[in-house]
Amino acid sequence: GPVINPQSVTDYLALPQCLICVSPQGDIEWIVEDVESTKLNDVLTQHDCAPSDITLVRLDDGEFLMPGLVDTHTHACQVPNLGVGGEMELLQWLDNYTFPTEARFKDVKYAERAYPDVVRRIVNSGTTTCCYYGSLHLEATKVLASLVHAAGQRAFVGKCNMNWNCPPNYIEPSVKESVDTTLALFKYIEELPKATCGESLLHPILTPRFAISCTEELLTRLSEIAQKNPKLAIQTHISENKSEVELAKSLFKTNSYAEVYDKFHLLRDNTVLAHGVHLTEDEMMLLAKRGSGVAHCPTSNFYLSSGMARVGMLLDHGVKVGLGTDVAGGYSPSILTEVQHASIASKMLAIQATDNKKCKCSGGHSELSSSGEEDSHSRGRHGHKHHECQCDCECNEKQPGRFTNQKLSIATLLYLATLGGAGVCCLQDRIGSFEQKRAFDALLVSVREDDTGNPAVWGYNPGRDLTQGVTAQSADKSLIEWLERFLFCGDDRNIKKVIVQGRTIGGRDYHPAR
Ligand code: GUN
Ligand code: FE
Repeated sequence: GPVINPQSVTDYLALPQCLICVSPQGDIEWIVEDVESTKLNDVLTQHDCAPSDITLVRLDDGEFLMPGLVDTHTHACQVPNLGVGGEMELLQWLDNYTFPTEARFKDVKYAERAYPDVVRRIVNSGTTTCCYYGSLHLEATKVLASLVHAAGQRAFVGKCNMNWNCPPNYIEPSVKESVDTTLALFKYIEELPKATCGESLLHPILTPRFAISCTEELLTRLSEIAQKNPKLAIQTHISENKSEVELAKSLFKTNSYAEVYDKFHLLRDNTVLAHGVHLTEDEMMLLAKRGSGVAHCPTSNFYLSSGMARVGMLLDHGVKVGLGTDVAGGYSPSILTEVQHASIASKMLAIQATDNKKCKCSGGHSELSSSGEEDSHSRGRHGHKHHECQCDCECNEKQPGRFTNQKLSIATLLYLATLGGAGVCCLQDRIGSFEQKRAFDALLVSVREDDTGNPAVWGYNPGRDLTQGVTAQSADKSLIEWLERFLFCGDDRNIKKVIVQGRTIGGRDYHPAR
């Protein structure tokens, strides 16, 4: 049936009659991009498949398959706080809403009550791979890890390291305790049984919450753990909010936020950095050099008035980018909401850049920065560095890239939600698109109103059958529109199956035996 297959940051395939062969272990054995139903037997013979050896699944009208969504940044322990506190900015919000919410997870019984619904909701949102932050508590985070493991989701689970600048009832009492509980969680996760494919779908992740909450001594110890385990993933926050950036630089006496992490060798190819709203061009170059990825969290960046991350500029600098819900900085557990806000943020930046097109500068000028504040720069002929401001004048120093200040296309948005996220998690060889030898992590999407009950996604026309009697071109077009409608108006009602490593683990049609 119809398949959407991301290819690159600028391309995806819309295939009306695609056949994907999945092994019992859940890996993709082969793909035929265009199978006419009459030639199905020939295709099977070519691949040495006896019809009796396989189960053939034909999609119903109005259905298509696409790769599962990747959430590169979320806080499971903040779900109880979803949708409140958005009038504050980051540092105030942490003190008034977030830390008190997370502190409740000291009680394991509370974690056992709260986390099952959290994991179920995230899975049913179509997230097949998720980078989770737990609270600082070992026992509660073990509960989270075992639920994610039991659900069969591909994931990274970490407990926060935080021993500095946090309230007395929500802080780790010593470096030793922070390190010991971290190592105990790693051991617990690594000892959970592997999936039937022989691979672990769940991985531990080192989670220094952010620079401000970790002393130098703690970062030094975490860095030692990271050096000993080059494959260990790392996640933290960076340059989300202007006051946060200033505080981090002053606490660690560095010139930039990225330098703080780099000083402790925490920037590497398996580091996931959330937000990056206020990263400078020099920092972007450093991240690209280290291979670290950015979790773009636009819902949260709007909700907490943090600003708009310059995704186009990050891509032009060769920084890996994926999407993150950042619950509960973001108020939605769905990556679809991030797709929508990533699109809007990129349009806002593009509009600002056009508005600023006529350079008003005559030497040291000031420009509106991405966060909407006056921002004077002191470098370059025009007194500013053009990539760092939104100015679009014809000055020689300007090297516009392909994506800087441009609206993100549907292909790029799809990429960020799938392949881009896979790259940020260093899983680009396993997930993100349908390709031979990759895992079959997929969503079965339906755009039929009568089937899903979502009248907003009305793209399916029952009079028209994608697999019969339409030219490839018109079929392609309707499939492209189905994808676009799903991304912008779809929700969990349209996701019939959530499949990880070939196994259905969620979605509207998933009814596990109790
Ligand atoms: N920075 C440090 N902790 C947090 C958090 O929980 N959420 C967000 N959005 N930013 C943070
Ligand atoms: Fe966050």
